[in-house]
Amino acid sequence: MNEHATAQTPVRTLDARYYTDPEIFRIEHNGLFARTWQFAGHVSQVENTGDYFTFSIGGENLFCIRGKDGEIRAFYNVCQHRAHEMVHGDGNAKLLVCPYHAWTYELDGGLRSGPNVKSVPGFDRSEICLTPVRIENFHGFLFANLNPDAVPMDEWFPGVREELASFVPHIGQLKPLEWVEIPEDCNWKVSVENYSECYHCAINHPTFATGVIKPETYNILPQGYCLRHTTECANLDRMTYEIDLQSNEHAGDYSSWFLWPMFSFQVYPGNVLNTYHWRALDADHVIVWRGWYTIDGVDSETVRRLAVQDRATTVAEDIVLVESVQRGLKSRGYRPGPLVVDPACGVNSEHSVLALQQWMREAVDG
Ligand code: FES
Ligand SMILES: [Fe+2]
Repeated sequence: MNEHATAQTPVRTLDARYYTDPEIFRIEHNGLFARTWQFAGHVSQVENTGDYFTFSIGGENLFCIRGKDGEIRAFYNVCQHRAHEMVHGDGNAKLLVCPYHAWTYELDGGLRSGPNVKSVPGFDRSEICLTPVRIENFHGFLFANLNPDAVPMDEWFPGVREELASFVPHIGQLKPLEWVEIPEDCNWKVSVENYSECYHCAINHPTFATGVIKPETYNILPQGYCLRHTTECANLDRMTYEIDLQSNEHAGDYSSWFLWPMFSFQVYPGNVLNTYHWRALDADHVIVWRGWYTIDGVDSETVRRLAVQDRATTVAEDIVLVESVQRGLKSRGYRPGPLVVDPACGVNSEHSVLALQQWMREAVDG
């Protein structure tokens, strides 16, 4: 339990500076973001040998590429000669040729050749390789970790791989259909905390709280470094699309798996997978990328309509909340208030925020 938690004293929310101080953001950027599993991209972006795409984590420029052996690897995007960047954007390469002096690397990162390097006494090309980055394929979702000693995702997020496979039986065949960018003028933690409690749902999300879920059954519990949302669904007959409840075990269910610190898998009834990916820009700005997927990325009126409805309701409703909180955190009149932690958990409890804030404190204060 948190050091402040006693029977007499409610736990207070984090000090405002955690959300506003650029120095705290710098500590997170160089520490937390560099030693946690961060979403890089989807396997469909590297379907063929030589396909690559660039991405960044904790300010590092990285890229992911599929090798001749079919293996997907990630590297720092920097030549081992004099540090020019190797690739831009995305594309396909037979070999990786540095634009500066044409040193050439194999797709597995090993140096193959360079103009005139043989003239250098003692030059051993087998010693030179692009610097690799840890990468994991999580049902087609690629996550990278700048910490070479990071424990695998299955240890961070126990049970999640198996649960996702049963909630989305076709997860291995999915490809992105829609990828929407939602800028929010707030600290990434304000947005993530808002996502991770449903204490605000009843008065702010009428569609979600009456059309999708049964609020009285909503709960969010830590599962390792995952916050797992579970609920019973209400009014499946009022959903805007057809659901074949007989097709599989979880066809009528909603669930979500928030993977600390900045990603979430969410499943709507009908096994519709969608994702959240928070990208923190600075202390006051975050971009939320909402991803929607279908089998083979085939266009689906249902999923497109769901995405539009989600943007018009839950997403739009949340932006107003988080941006107001960010302004409030800068007010001289604000003192951190007590969290509503109900020992019985449930929808009107902030126990999930308590768990999150413990991880947030650890990330900044050690
Ligand atoms: S910096 Fe890449 S070849 Fe010189
Ligand atoms: Fe919300």
